[in-house]
Amino acid sequence: MCGIVGAVGFVSPKDYVFNGLKMLDYRGYDSAGVAYFNNGIQIFKDVGSVEHLLSIVPETIDTNIMIGHTRWATHGAPTKLNTHPHLSFHEKICLVHNGVIENFKELRGFLTGKGYRFYGETDTEIIANLLEYYYLEKGEIIEAIKTIMTLVKGSYAFAFFTSEDKNTLYVIKKASPLVIGLGEGFNLIASDASPMIEHTNKFIELDDLEFGIVTKDKVAIYNKKGEQIKKDTISKDVELISHDLKGYPHYMIKEIEEIPQTVRRLMAKYYQDDKYQFDPNLIKDLEESDHIIFIACGTSYHAGLVGGRYFEKYDKSTSRFIASEWAFHPTYPGKKPFIIMISQSGETADLIHCLKIIKEHNLKNLIITNTGGSTLDRNAMYSLLLYSGIEVSVASTKAYVAQVTLLAMLAAALSNDTKLIDDLTDSLDVIYDIQDHYKPLIMKVADEIKDKKNLFYLGRSFDYFLSLEASLKLKEISYIHSEAIPGGELKHGPIALIEKGIPVIVFITDPDTAASMRGNIEEVKSRGAKVYTIATKSLSKPEDTIMVEDYAYYLSSVAVSSIAFYLAYYVALAKGLNVDKPRNLAKSVTVE
Ligand code: F6R
Repeated sequence: MCGIVGAVGFVSPKDYVFNGLKMLDYRGYDSAGVAYFNNGIQIFKDVGSVEHLLSIVPETIDTNIMIGHTRWATHGAPTKLNTHPHLSFHEKICLVHNGVIENFKELRGFLTGKGYRFYGETDTEIIANLLEYYYLEKGEIIEAIKTIMTLVKGSYAFAFFTSEDKNTLYVIKKASPLVIGLGEGFNLIASDASPMIEHTNKFIELDDLEFGIVTKDKVAIYNKKGEQIKKDTISKDVELISHDLKGYPHYMIKEIEEIPQTVRRLMAKYYQDDKYQFDPNLIKDLEESDHIIFIACGTSYHAGLVGGRYFEKYDKSTSRFIASEWAFHPTYPGKKPFIIMISQSGETADLIHCLKIIKEHNLKNLIITNTGGSTLDRNAMYSLLLYSGIEVSVASTKAYVAQVTLLAMLAAALSNDTKLIDDLTDSLDVIYDIQDHYKPLIMKVADEIKDKKNLFYLGRSFDYFLSLEASLKLKEISYIHSEAIPGGELKHGPIALIEKGIPVIVFITDPDTAASMRGNIEEVKSRGAKVYTIATKSLSKPEDTIMVEDYAYYLSSVAVSSIAFYLAYYVALAKGLNVDKPRNLAKSVTVE
């Protein structure tokens, strides 16, 4: 995933584009670049951060038009040459791209045959040249756009301008997001509305296979046949798209601390007048289905593990799959299976692949996502939004809790089980208590484990699902190798790894599994492990590390996941790592 920003007619395009790039670098941060028009096309780009880019562009830039890009490398290593914007061979087209071009090799072959040469390895550079080729052949930019839309396979949001017109930005979209912000005497573009909200709250969202011609006073949208179409303008909830750090040093800690309001917002959206508020058709389809399949990746998959249990509580049979596994061996047991996909970003390629298969088999399906307008939101049969507000930190925290909360509410809606609402409300007190009282203790644990190379999380049942998430969060931002093990599995192999001083972090919040977990603690302690136990008060022992108030045990992932998130955060911080942007990762994984 990459981020695109652009402006035409804006009084200080440099400020807008650079601020926008900083906001969008959650979409990728291998390299960044900008292009503008001033005595011809000027391009500045380099490997590294937007801050670095800012240090290499002129202090004052006199221009009417600018595009910028922040990249997460797919085709071609993160090098300066592969960084966007890309200039075509005859220097007519300057283009940025978010997405993946599937047939770029074939298109490159075609252009090579026409005498084109390329300086980098990206799929994007091919498109800049393809546009140029057809622009020169047809003498008309709209004709060139229409032609390439028929030729290019894959996903794209393109933004470009030509060397011959410094007053016009062009945008084309298929399966990657692109939003236009309407101003007075200027217009803006970006991959999401957040960079523009400071300047306008009037937006046009391009749909797939549409393109736009954007000047400072006018925005014209066309379908793939080149016919101008009318599009509604929309406005956005400022609170939900704000990138304001609100005084926090990092997005991750801000987002952890937003967990209670995220849970509250979901309760307010999907439970009103003492009733669950879900589409009755969705509830009917879920009721009629005889098997529910959960499919997701990473953290969202961990939410699916918990969610599956919730539906089983209401007598639904379920199975849960990692998307990239299911895609290569799709199974759908039962006569009326129903698929629930979960994705914070709504753009995860592995899951989009699954949706294709799901549709080919005409299976009923739902996406649970935080991103309205995303590919999965637009293409699934049903969609439920998480309303968590934008999650900027690469490590997902509040969106995970929102996914679990929403799955619990949806499952409870099948039996109109309203006790859940009381249980969720009680769990908010536990979260506030953690926020108010336990951070110093968590920091102390972070300090003790920060130099370790390996550690383990242990839990059973809901506490095991939470351990999986705790372990993923720690490894992705602190680079400590960590594994989550179900307590009962320890003796089947992993116990061989327990040695003197190795940290083992144990969750004990489930009365049914507490006694067995205490047994596991003795097993690892006797082999020299340094155990840190997080327990609810009624299940705790005096030697435990953190004891939280009791809550409905099935809500571990809501009530105490904050402890795991803070721990990962403080370890990464203590190691001096980039908490919000861990190495090699991107907020949304748009490649399989
Ligand atoms: C980890 C994390 C990832 C994502 C995974 C799926 O903190 O965020 O594991 O959960 O890449 O992404 P989505 O939920 O956008 O489909």
